Amino acid sequence: MWSLCLARFSATMRGAKRSGAKLAESAKRKRTKAAVKDEKTGDAPRASVYHTFPDPAAVVQLRSQLLHWYDKAKRELPWRTLAATVSDPDIRTYAVWVSEIMLQQTQVATVIDYYNKWMKRWPTVQDLAAATLEEVNQMWAGLGYYSRGKRLHEGAQKVVSELQGKMPDTVETLLQQLPGVGRYTAAAIGSIALGHVTGAVDGNVIRVLCRLKAIGADSTSPAVTEALWNLANMLVDPARPGDFNQAMMELGARVCAPKAPLCSQCPVQTHCHSYRKVHLKQEKNCKKLSGKLDRKLSGVTDIEDCVNSGTCKLCPSEPWDDELGVLNFPRKPAKKPPRVERTLACVVIRRGDEEEDEYLLTQRPNKGLLAGLWEFPSLLQEVKSSDIKHKEILSDEINRILGTRCTSSLLQNVGEVVHIFSHIHQTYVVHSLCLKDADTHACSENVQWLTRSALQEAAVSTGVKKILKLCDSVLGQKEQQPSKDTKRQKKTSRGTNKKALVCEKSSRSAANSSSSSRQLSLSTFFKTVKQEC
Ligand code: ADE
Repeated sequence: MWSLCLARFSATMRGAKRSGAKLAESAKRKRTKAAVKDEKTGDAPRASVYHTFPDPAAVVQLRSQLLHWYDKAKRELPWRTLAATVSDPDIRTYAVWVSEIMLQQTQVATVIDYYNKWMKRWPTVQDLAAATLEEVNQMWAGLGYYSRGKRLHEGAQKVVSELQGKMPDTVETLLQQLPGVGRYTAAAIGSIALGHVTGAVDGNVIRVLCRLKAIGADSTSPAVTEALWNLANMLVDPARPGDFNQAMMELGARVCAPKAPLCSQCPVQTHCHSYRKVHLKQEKNCKKLSGKLDRKLSGVTDIEDCVNSGTCKLCPSEPWDDELGVLNFPRKPAKKPPRVERTLACVVIRRGDEEEDEYLLTQRPNKGLLAGLWEFPSLLQEVKSSDIKHKEILSDEINRILGTRCTSSLLQNVGEVVHIFSHIHQTYVVHSLCLKDADTHACSENVQWLTRSALQEAAVSTGVKKILKLCDSVLGQKEQQPSKDTKRQKKTSRGTNKKALVCEKSSRSAANSSSSSRQLSLSTFFKTVKQEC
Protein backbone atom coordinates (compact mmCIF):
# COMPACT_ATOMS: atom_id res chain seq x y z
CA MET A 1 0.00 0.00 0.00
CA TRP A 2 2.72 2.39 1.03
CA SER A 3 4.95 1.54 -1.93
CA LEU A 4 1.96 2.04 -4.24
CA CYS A 5 1.52 5.42 -2.71
CA LEU A 6 5.17 6.30 -3.21
CA ALA A 7 5.05 5.16 -6.83
CA ARG A 8 2.00 7.35 -7.52
CA PHE A 9 3.69 10.19 -5.75
CA SER A 10 6.84 10.02 -7.94
CA ALA A 11 4.75 9.77 -11.12
CA THR A 12 2.82 12.91 -10.20
CA MET A 13 6.07 14.62 -9.37
CA ARG A 14 7.54 13.90 -12.80
CA GLY A 15 4.40 15.28 -14.46
CA ALA A 16 4.46 18.48 -12.49
CA LYS A 17 8.16 19.14 -12.91
CA ARG A 18 8.10 21.22 -16.11
CA SER A 19 5.34 23.65 -15.15
CA GLY A 20 6.99 23.86 -11.74
CA ALA A 21 10.24 25.24 -13.11
CA LYS A 22 8.35 27.93 -15.05
CA LEU A 23 6.30 29.05 -12.09
CA ALA A 24 9.28 29.06 -9.76
CA GLU A 25 10.96 31.50 -12.15
CA SER A 26 8.04 33.97 -12.14
CA ALA A 27 7.66 33.57 -8.39
CA LYS A 28 11.22 34.70 -7.81
CA ARG A 29 10.52 37.97 -9.59
CA LYS A 30 7.66 38.89 -7.29
CA ARG A 31 9.06 37.76 -3.96
CA THR A 32 9.61 40.29 -1.21
CA LYS A 33 13.14 41.52 -0.66
CA ALA A 34 13.47 39.60 2.59
CA ALA A 35 12.35 36.37 0.99
CA VAL A 36 14.78 36.70 -1.91
CA LYS A 37 17.66 37.64 0.39
CA ASP A 38 17.09 34.55 2.53
CA GLU A 39 17.15 32.35 -0.54
CA LYS A 40 20.17 33.97 -2.25
CA THR A 41 22.57 34.50 0.57
CA GLY A 42 21.77 31.38 2.49
CA ASP A 43 22.12 33.51 5.63
CA ALA A 44 20.26 30.83 7.49
CA PRO A 45 22.24 27.83 8.69
CA ARG A 46 22.71 25.23 6.00
CA ALA A 47 20.20 22.44 6.32
CA SER A 48 20.54 19.07 4.69
CA VAL A 49 18.19 18.65 1.72
CA TYR A 50 16.17 16.38 3.94
CA HIS A 51 14.75 19.47 5.66
CA THR A 52 14.11 21.45 2.46
CA PHE A 53 12.04 21.11 -0.72
CA PRO A 54 14.75 20.49 -3.28
CA ASP A 55 12.35 19.50 -6.07
CA PRO A 56 10.48 22.47 -7.64
CA ALA A 57 7.84 20.11 -9.01
CA ALA A 58 7.06 18.88 -5.52
CA VAL A 59 6.65 22.50 -4.42
CA VAL A 60 4.23 23.22 -7.23
CA GLN A 61 2.28 20.12 -6.38
CA LEU A 62 2.14 20.92 -2.67
CA ARG A 63 0.85 24.43 -3.36
CA SER A 64 -1.83 23.13 -5.64
CA GLN A 65 -2.95 20.38 -3.25
CA LEU A 66 -3.06 22.76 -0.32
CA LEU A 67 -4.96 25.52 -2.14
CA HIS A 68 -7.40 23.04 -3.62
CA TRP A 69 -8.18 21.77 -0.12
CA TYR A 70 -8.42 25.34 1.23
CA ASP A 71 -10.87 26.39 -1.47
CA LYS A 72 -13.15 23.56 -0.46
CA ALA A 73 -12.63 23.41 3.31
CA LYS A 74 -11.89 26.96 4.45
CA ARG A 75 -14.06 28.65 7.04
CA GLU A 76 -15.82 31.83 6.00
CA LEU A 77 -14.31 34.31 8.42
CA PRO A 78 -15.21 38.01 8.49
CA TRP A 79 -11.66 39.25 7.90
CA ARG A 80 -11.32 36.89 4.96
CA THR A 81 -14.49 38.29 3.45
CA LEU A 82 -13.25 41.86 3.95
CA ALA A 83 -9.81 41.05 2.50
CA ALA A 84 -11.48 39.55 -0.56
CA THR A 85 -14.17 42.17 -1.14
CA VAL A 86 -12.97 45.60 0.00
CA SER A 87 -11.40 47.54 -2.86
CA ASP A 88 -9.73 50.30 -0.81
CA PRO A 89 -6.25 48.99 0.13
CA ASP A 90 -6.09 51.18 3.28
CA ILE A 91 -9.33 49.75 4.62
CA ARG A 92 -8.30 46.22 3.60
CA THR A 93 -4.95 46.58 5.34
CA TYR A 94 -6.59 48.03 8.44
CA ALA A 95 -9.18 45.21 8.50
CA VAL A 96 -6.52 42.48 8.25
CA TRP A 97 -4.29 44.27 10.76
CA VAL A 98 -7.11 44.27 13.34
CA SER A 99 -7.81 40.57 12.71
CA GLU A 100 -4.18 39.55 12.98
CA ILE A 101 -3.71 41.43 16.25
CA MET A 102 -6.86 39.87 17.71
CA LEU A 103 -5.76 36.43 16.53
CA GLN A 104 -2.42 36.69 18.32
CA GLN A 105 -2.85 34.29 21.27
CA THR A 106 -6.63 34.03 20.80
CA GLN A 107 -8.66 31.32 19.08
CA VAL A 108 -10.53 32.08 15.86
CA ALA A 109 -13.90 31.17 17.43
CA THR A 110 -13.43 33.71 20.24
CA VAL A 111 -12.21 36.45 17.93
CA ILE A 112 -15.15 36.44 15.46
CA ASP A 113 -17.66 38.32 17.66
CA TYR A 114 -15.11 40.80 18.92
CA TYR A 115 -13.95 41.43 15.36
CA ASN A 116 -17.43 42.03 14.00
CA LYS A 117 -18.26 44.45 16.81
CA TRP A 118 -14.97 46.26 16.41
CA MET A 119 -15.28 46.69 12.65
CA LYS A 120 -18.86 47.87 12.99
CA ARG A 121 -17.85 50.53 15.49
CA TRP A 122 -14.53 51.52 13.89
CA PRO A 123 -14.65 50.55 10.21
CA THR A 124 -11.62 52.67 9.26
CA VAL A 125 -8.30 53.55 10.81
CA GLN A 126 -9.56 57.14 11.17
CA ASP A 127 -12.52 55.93 13.25
CA LEU A 128 -10.23 53.97 15.55
CA ALA A 129 -7.83 56.90 15.90
CA ALA A 130 -10.73 59.09 17.06
CA ALA A 131 -11.76 56.65 19.82
CA THR A 132 -10.49 56.92 23.38
CA LEU A 133 -8.28 54.28 24.98
CA GLU A 134 -11.07 53.72 27.49
CA GLU A 135 -13.44 52.80 24.66
CA VAL A 136 -10.85 50.51 23.12
CA ASN A 137 -10.23 48.76 26.45
CA GLN A 138 -13.96 48.41 26.92
CA MET A 139 -14.30 46.78 23.50
CA TRP A 140 -11.33 44.52 24.23
CA ALA A 141 -12.62 43.42 27.66
CA GLY A 142 -12.49 39.63 27.89
CA LEU A 143 -10.10 39.06 24.97
CA GLY A 144 -7.02 39.09 27.21
CA TYR A 145 -3.52 40.43 26.50
CA TYR A 146 -4.85 43.97 26.70
CA SER A 147 -1.73 45.66 25.42
CA ARG A 148 -2.77 44.44 21.96
CA GLY A 149 -5.78 46.77 21.87
CA LYS A 150 -3.68 49.63 23.18
CA ARG A 151 -1.09 49.06 20.41
CA LEU A 152 -3.79 49.02 17.74
CA HIS A 153 -5.09 52.32 19.06
CA GLU A 154 -1.60 53.84 19.19
CA GLY A 155 -0.92 52.56 15.67
CA ALA A 156 -4.14 54.06 14.32
CA GLN A 157 -3.30 57.44 15.86
CA LYS A 158 0.16 57.25 14.32
CA VAL A 159 -1.22 56.41 10.87
CA VAL A 160 -3.58 59.38 11.06
CA SER A 161 -1.21 61.92 12.58
CA GLU A 162 2.09 60.92 10.95
CA LEU A 163 1.24 59.00 7.79
CA GLN A 164 -1.60 61.15 6.44
CA GLY A 165 -4.07 58.36 7.11
CA LYS A 166 -2.33 55.98 4.68
CA MET A 167 -1.65 52.51 6.02
CA PRO A 168 1.92 51.24 5.44
CA ASP A 169 1.86 49.17 2.24
CA THR A 170 4.94 46.94 2.30
CA VAL A 171 5.97 44.17 4.66
CA GLU A 172 8.99 46.20 5.72
CA THR A 173 7.02 49.38 6.53
CA LEU A 174 4.24 47.47 8.29
CA LEU A 175 6.95 46.00 10.50
CA GLN A 176 8.71 49.30 11.08
CA GLN A 177 5.77 51.65 11.49
CA LEU A 178 3.04 49.80 13.36
CA PRO A 179 3.51 49.15 17.09
CA GLY A 180 2.80 45.53 18.05
CA VAL A 181 3.46 44.28 14.52
CA GLY A 182 6.28 41.75 14.36
CA ARG A 183 7.73 39.63 11.57
CA TYR A 184 4.80 37.24 11.35
CA THR A 185 2.06 39.88 11.58
CA ALA A 186 3.69 42.10 8.95
CA ALA A 187 4.02 39.13 6.60
CA ALA A 188 0.43 38.01 7.22
CA ILE A 189 -1.00 41.51 6.61
CA GLY A 190 1.27 42.04 3.59
CA SER A 191 0.28 38.78 1.95
CA ILE A 192 -3.43 38.67 2.88
CA ALA A 193 -4.34 42.33 2.38
CA LEU A 194 -1.83 43.40 -0.25
CA GLY A 195 -0.82 40.23 -2.11
CA HIS A 196 2.88 40.49 -1.27
CA VAL A 197 4.69 37.21 -1.91
CA THR A 198 6.07 36.31 1.49
CA GLY A 199 5.70 33.33 3.76
CA ALA A 200 4.18 33.84 7.22
CA VAL A 201 5.24 31.63 10.09
CA ASP A 202 2.92 31.47 13.09
CA GLY A 203 2.44 28.66 15.62
CA ASN A 204 0.27 26.59 13.29
CA VAL A 205 2.68 26.97 10.41
CA ILE A 206 5.62 26.01 12.63
CA ARG A 207 3.88 22.73 13.42
CA VAL A 208 2.97 21.99 9.79
CA LEU A 209 6.48 22.69 8.51
CA CYS A 210 8.25 20.86 11.33
CA ARG A 211 6.16 17.77 10.64
CA LEU A 212 6.45 18.03 6.86
CA LYS A 213 10.23 18.29 7.01
CA ALA A 214 10.91 16.35 10.23
CA ILE A 215 12.40 19.36 12.01
CA GLY A 216 12.70 18.24 15.60
CA ALA A 217 15.23 20.61 17.17
CA ASP A 218 13.88 23.25 19.58
CA SER A 219 11.37 25.12 17.40
CA THR A 220 12.17 28.40 19.14
CA SER A 221 15.92 28.21 18.38
CA PRO A 222 17.34 30.74 15.87
CA ALA A 223 18.44 27.94 13.51
CA VAL A 224 14.96 26.42 13.35
CA THR A 225 13.25 29.83 13.14
CA GLU A 226 15.35 30.85 10.15
CA ALA A 227 14.93 27.46 8.47
CA LEU A 228 11.14 27.72 8.86
CA TRP A 229 11.01 31.22 7.38
CA ASN A 230 13.17 30.05 4.46
CA LEU A 231 10.82 27.15 3.86
CA ALA A 232 7.72 29.35 4.12
CA ASN A 233 9.22 31.95 1.75
CA MET A 234 10.05 29.39 -0.89
CA LEU A 235 6.79 27.45 -0.55
CA VAL A 236 4.38 30.40 -0.69
CA ASP A 237 2.28 30.45 -3.84
CA PRO A 238 3.28 33.48 -5.93
CA ALA A 239 -0.20 33.85 -7.41
CA ARG A 240 -2.16 33.54 -4.15
CA PRO A 241 0.21 34.31 -1.26
CA GLY A 242 -2.50 35.38 1.19
CA ASP A 243 -4.62 32.33 0.56
CA PHE A 244 -1.57 30.07 0.71
CA ASN A 245 -0.52 31.44 4.10
CA GLN A 246 -4.04 31.18 5.46
CA ALA A 247 -4.29 27.65 4.07
CA MET A 248 -1.14 26.69 5.98
CA MET A 249 -2.64 28.20 9.17
CA GLU A 250 -5.95 26.49 8.53
CA LEU A 251 -4.23 23.17 7.94
CA GLY A 252 -2.34 23.55 11.21
CA ALA A 253 -5.48 24.49 13.11
CA ARG A 254 -7.84 21.88 11.71
CA VAL A 255 -5.87 18.93 10.32
CA CYS A 256 -2.26 19.02 11.48
CA ALA A 257 -3.54 19.70 15.00
CA PRO A 258 -1.23 19.75 18.02
CA LYS A 259 -2.56 16.69 19.83
CA ALA A 260 -4.83 14.71 17.50
CA PRO A 261 -3.73 15.27 13.92
CA LEU A 262 -6.01 13.96 11.18
CA CYS A 263 -3.30 12.64 8.87
CA SER A 264 -5.77 10.62 6.80
CA GLN A 265 -7.45 13.91 5.77
CA CYS A 266 -4.26 15.80 5.06
CA PRO A 267 -4.04 17.20 1.53
CA VAL A 268 -0.23 17.23 1.62
CA GLN A 269 0.30 13.88 3.30
CA THR A 270 2.50 12.60 0.45
CA HIS A 271 5.04 15.34 1.21
CA CYS A 272 5.20 14.65 4.92
CA HIS A 273 8.39 13.14 6.34
CA SER A 274 6.76 12.55 9.73
CA TYR A 275 3.86 10.66 8.23
CA ARG A 276 6.22 8.57 6.13
CA LYS A 277 8.41 7.89 9.14
CA VAL A 278 5.46 6.66 11.20
CA HIS A 279 4.45 4.23 8.49
CA LEU A 280 7.94 2.95 7.83
CA LYS A 281 8.46 2.38 11.55
CA GLN A 282 5.16 0.54 11.77
CA GLU A 283 6.02 -1.60 8.79
CA LYS A 284 9.41 -2.34 10.24
CA ASN A 285 7.96 -3.25 13.62
CA CYS A 286 5.42 -5.59 11.97
CA LYS A 287 8.15 -7.35 10.03
CA LYS A 288 10.29 -7.58 13.13
CA LEU A 289 7.46 -9.23 15.02
CA SER A 290 6.81 -11.71 12.27
CA GLY A 291 10.56 -12.35 11.84
CA LYS A 292 10.44 -11.16 8.21
CA LEU A 293 12.66 -8.11 8.50
CA ASP A 294 15.12 -8.39 5.63
CA ARG A 295 18.16 -6.28 4.99
CA LYS A 296 16.46 -4.18 2.36
CA LEU A 297 13.80 -2.88 4.70
CA SER A 298 16.14 -2.32 7.61
CA GLY A 299 18.12 0.03 5.35
CA VAL A 300 15.11 2.09 4.35
CA THR A 301 15.11 4.21 7.45
CA ASP A 302 18.66 5.35 6.70
CA ILE A 303 17.51 6.82 3.39
CA GLU A 304 14.52 8.37 5.12
CA ASP A 305 16.59 10.18 7.75
CA CYS A 306 18.71 13.32 7.62
CA VAL A 307 22.24 12.39 6.58
CA ASN A 308 23.69 14.88 9.07
CA SER A 309 21.47 13.85 11.95
CA GLY A 310 24.37 13.77 14.45
CA THR A 311 25.34 17.39 13.82
CA CYS A 312 22.25 18.84 12.13
CA LYS A 313 20.82 21.93 13.85
CA LEU A 314 17.32 20.98 12.74
CA CYS A 315 17.26 17.33 13.81
CA PRO A 316 15.85 16.35 17.20
CA SER A 317 18.33 15.80 19.98
CA GLU A 318 16.16 13.07 21.41
CA PRO A 319 15.44 9.79 19.67
CA TRP A 320 12.19 9.15 17.83
CA ASP A 321 9.40 7.99 20.14
CA ASP A 322 7.16 5.40 18.44
CA GLU A 323 4.27 6.21 20.74
CA LEU A 324 4.23 9.86 19.74
CA GLY A 325 4.13 9.23 16.00
CA VAL A 326 3.94 12.53 14.09
CA LEU A 327 3.75 14.32 17.45
CA ASN A 328 7.52 13.81 17.64
CA PHE A 329 7.53 17.12 15.75
CA PRO A 330 7.77 19.94 16.63
CA ARG A 331 9.72 20.06 19.88
CA LYS A 332 9.47 23.01 22.20
CA PRO A 333 11.69 23.75 25.19
CA ALA A 334 10.09 22.99 28.55
CA LYS A 335 7.84 25.87 29.59
CA LYS A 336 8.84 27.94 32.60
CA PRO A 337 6.29 27.29 35.34
CA PRO A 338 3.99 30.30 35.88
CA ARG A 339 4.63 32.64 38.78
CA VAL A 340 2.19 31.87 41.60
CA GLU A 341 0.47 34.93 43.08
CA ARG A 342 -2.33 35.59 45.56
CA THR A 343 -4.24 38.86 45.47
CA LEU A 344 -6.71 40.15 48.02
CA ALA A 345 -9.74 41.68 46.34
CA CYS A 346 -12.77 43.37 47.85
CA VAL A 347 -16.14 43.77 46.15
CA VAL A 348 -17.54 46.94 47.72
CA ILE A 349 -21.21 47.54 47.06
CA ARG A 350 -23.41 50.51 47.90
CA ARG A 351 -26.98 51.49 47.12
CA GLY A 352 -26.70 54.21 44.47
CA ASP A 353 -28.85 57.30 43.94
CA GLU A 354 -31.11 55.43 41.55
CA GLU A 355 -31.76 52.71 44.15
CA GLU A 356 -29.50 50.45 42.18
CA ASP A 357 -26.53 48.56 43.60
CA GLU A 358 -23.23 50.13 42.65
CA TYR A 359 -19.75 48.60 42.73
CA LEU A 360 -16.51 50.31 43.62
CA LEU A 361 -13.85 50.01 40.93
CA THR A 362 -10.33 51.35 40.74
CA GLN A 363 -8.22 51.75 37.64
CA ARG A 364 -4.94 49.91 37.17
CA PRO A 365 -1.81 51.85 36.20
CA ASN A 366 -1.34 52.66 32.51
CA LYS A 367 1.65 50.33 32.18
CA GLY A 368 2.13 46.66 32.93
CA LEU A 369 -0.31 43.80 33.39
CA LEU A 370 -3.95 44.71 32.48
CA ALA A 371 -2.85 48.31 31.94
CA GLY A 372 -5.65 50.85 32.38
CA LEU A 373 -8.35 48.28 33.14
CA TRP A 374 -10.80 48.64 36.02
CA GLU A 375 -10.84 46.21 38.91
CA PHE A 376 -12.23 45.74 42.41
CA PRO A 377 -9.86 47.24 44.99
CA SER A 378 -7.05 44.71 45.15
CA LEU A 379 -3.72 44.20 46.84
CA LEU A 380 -1.03 41.66 46.09
CA GLN A 381 -0.65 39.35 49.08
CA GLU A 382 3.09 39.39 49.73
CA VAL A 383 3.11 36.92 52.60
CA LYS A 384 0.61 34.32 53.56
CA SER A 385 -1.51 35.45 56.47
CA SER A 386 -4.77 34.83 58.28
CA ASP A 387 -8.25 35.81 57.15
CA ILE A 388 -8.40 38.35 59.98
CA LYS A 389 -5.25 39.99 58.63
CA HIS A 390 -6.67 39.93 55.07
CA LYS A 391 -9.73 41.80 56.28
CA GLU A 392 -7.60 44.36 58.08
CA ILE A 393 -5.47 44.97 54.99
CA LEU A 394 -8.51 45.32 52.76
CA SER A 395 -10.49 47.56 55.08
CA ASP A 396 -7.45 49.85 55.40
CA GLU A 397 -7.31 50.00 51.61
CA ILE A 398 -11.02 50.77 51.25
CA ASN A 399 -10.74 53.47 53.93
CA ARG A 400 -7.78 54.94 52.07
CA ILE A 401 -9.72 55.05 48.81
CA LEU A 402 -13.05 56.28 50.18
CA GLY A 403 -12.01 58.17 53.28
CA THR A 404 -14.34 55.98 55.35
CA ARG A 405 -13.64 54.35 58.69
CA CYS A 406 -14.94 50.82 58.23
CA THR A 407 -13.72 48.18 60.61
CA SER A 408 -12.32 44.93 59.28
CA SER A 409 -15.10 42.90 60.92
CA LEU A 410 -17.48 44.33 58.32
CA LEU A 411 -15.83 42.40 55.52
CA GLN A 412 -17.15 39.07 54.44
CA ASN A 413 -14.99 36.31 52.98
CA VAL A 414 -16.64 35.19 49.76
CA GLY A 415 -14.12 32.61 48.56
CA GLU A 416 -11.34 32.24 46.01
CA VAL A 417 -11.13 32.58 42.24
CA VAL A 418 -8.28 31.26 40.14
CA HIS A 419 -7.33 33.02 36.94
CA ILE A 420 -4.48 31.88 34.73
CA PHE A 421 -2.53 34.44 32.78
CA SER A 422 0.14 33.25 30.34
CA HIS A 423 2.84 33.66 32.97
CA ILE A 424 0.97 34.04 36.28
CA HIS A 425 -1.18 31.61 38.22
CA GLN A 426 -3.35 34.14 40.03
CA THR A 427 -5.62 33.36 42.97
CA TYR A 428 -7.96 36.15 44.02
CA VAL A 429 -8.96 35.92 47.68
CA VAL A 430 -12.33 37.62 47.49
CA HIS A 431 -14.12 39.58 50.20
CA SER A 432 -17.22 41.71 50.04
CA LEU A 433 -18.31 44.81 51.88
CA CYS A 434 -21.75 46.36 51.65
CA LEU A 435 -21.94 50.09 52.29
CA LYS A 436 -25.08 52.12 52.59
CA ASP A 437 -25.30 55.48 50.80
CA ALA A 438 -23.69 58.57 52.38
CA ASP A 439 -19.96 59.03 52.83
CA THR A 440 -19.16 56.78 49.91
CA HIS A 441 -19.01 59.50 47.31
CA ALA A 442 -15.27 59.65 46.94
CA CYS A 443 -14.79 59.52 43.21
CA SER A 444 -11.76 60.48 41.18
CA GLU A 445 -10.39 59.79 37.75
CA ASN A 446 -9.22 56.40 38.91
CA VAL A 447 -12.02 55.53 41.32
CA GLN A 448 -15.58 54.96 40.13
CA TRP A 449 -18.88 53.59 41.37
CA LEU A 450 -20.51 51.58 38.59
CA THR A 451 -23.95 50.05 38.37
CA ARG A 452 -24.16 46.40 37.52
CA SER A 453 -24.99 47.07 33.89
CA ALA A 454 -22.22 49.66 33.56
CA LEU A 455 -19.80 47.22 35.13
CA GLN A 456 -20.74 44.56 32.62
CA GLU A 457 -19.93 46.97 29.79
CA ALA A 458 -16.79 48.40 31.38
CA ALA A 459 -13.15 47.77 30.52
CA VAL A 460 -12.64 45.03 33.08
CA SER A 461 -10.58 41.87 32.87
CA THR A 462 -11.91 38.31 32.90
CA GLY A 463 -10.62 38.05 36.49
CA VAL A 464 -13.12 40.75 37.56
CA LYS A 465 -15.95 38.92 35.78
CA LYS A 466 -15.01 35.69 37.54
CA ILE A 467 -14.98 37.45 40.91
CA LEU A 468 -18.42 38.88 40.22
CA LYS A 469 -19.70 35.45 39.26
CA LEU A 470 -18.41 34.03 42.53
CA CYS A 471 -20.15 36.81 44.46
CA ASP A 472 -23.35 36.09 42.56
CA SER A 473 -23.26 32.44 43.42
CA VAL A 474 -22.40 33.06 47.06
CA LEU A 475 -24.51 36.13 47.69
CA GLY A 476 -27.22 35.26 45.19
CA GLN A 477 -27.15 38.48 43.21
CA LYS A 478 -29.23 38.27 40.03
CA GLU A 479 -27.72 39.51 36.77
CA GLN A 480 -30.71 41.62 35.78
CA GLN A 481 -31.79 44.93 37.21
CA PRO A 482 -33.87 44.76 40.36
CA SER A 483 -37.59 44.32 39.78
CA LYS A 484 -40.12 46.91 40.92
CA ASP A 485 -40.98 44.73 43.87
CA THR A 486 -37.43 44.57 45.05
CA LYS A 487 -37.08 48.27 44.56
CA ARG A 488 -40.07 48.85 46.79
CA GLN A 489 -38.57 46.56 49.40
CA LYS A 490 -35.25 48.32 49.17
CA LYS A 491 -36.90 51.68 49.68
CA THR A 492 -38.53 50.43 52.85
CA SER A 493 -35.33 48.98 54.18
CA ARG A 494 -33.50 52.15 53.29
CA GLY A 495 -36.00 54.17 55.20
CA THR A 496 -35.62 52.16 58.32
CA ASN A 497 -31.83 52.02 58.18
CA LYS A 498 -31.22 55.55 57.13
CA LYS A 499 -28.12 56.16 59.15
CA ALA A 500 -26.54 52.83 58.45
CA LEU A 501 -23.37 53.08 56.48
CA VAL A 502 -21.92 49.62 56.62
CA CYS A 503 -23.71 46.33 56.73
CA GLU A 504 -22.38 42.90 57.19
CA LYS A 505 -23.78 39.46 57.14
CA SER A 506 -22.09 36.52 58.76
CA SER A 507 -19.78 35.25 56.06
CA ARG A 508 -20.30 31.64 57.03
CA SER A 509 -24.02 31.74 56.61
CA ALA A 510 -23.76 33.39 53.20
CA ALA A 511 -20.91 31.27 51.94
CA ASN A 512 -22.50 28.07 53.09
CA SER A 513 -25.96 28.66 51.72
CA SER A 514 -25.58 26.44 48.74
CA SER A 515 -29.18 25.84 47.71
CA SER A 516 -30.64 28.63 45.64
CA SER A 517 -33.65 28.95 47.92
CA ARG A 518 -31.35 29.81 50.78
CA GLN A 519 -29.30 32.27 48.78
CA LEU A 520 -29.91 35.91 49.45
CA SER A 521 -30.00 38.53 46.75
CA LEU A 522 -27.99 41.59 47.62
CA SER A 523 -31.22 43.53 47.96
CA THR A 524 -32.43 41.09 50.55
CA PHE A 525 -29.01 41.15 52.02
CA PHE A 526 -29.26 44.88 52.60
CA LYS A 527 -32.62 44.41 54.22
CA THR A 528 -31.77 41.67 56.64
CA VAL A 529 -28.35 42.54 57.96
CA LYS A 530 -27.97 44.15 61.28
CA GLN A 531 -26.74 47.69 61.57
CA GLU A 532 -23.07 47.96 62.37
CA CYS A 533 -22.33 51.62 62.41
N1 ADE B 1 -4.52 32.96 12.62
C1 ADE B 1 -3.83 34.05 12.31
N2 ADE B 1 -4.26 34.59 11.17
C2 ADE B 1 -5.27 33.84 10.74
C3 ADE B 1 -6.13 33.89 9.64
N3 ADE B 1 -6.04 34.87 8.75
N4 ADE B 1 -7.05 32.92 9.51
C4 ADE B 1 -7.14 31.96 10.44
N5 ADE B 1 -6.36 31.85 11.49
C5 ADE B 1 -5.44 32.79 11.66
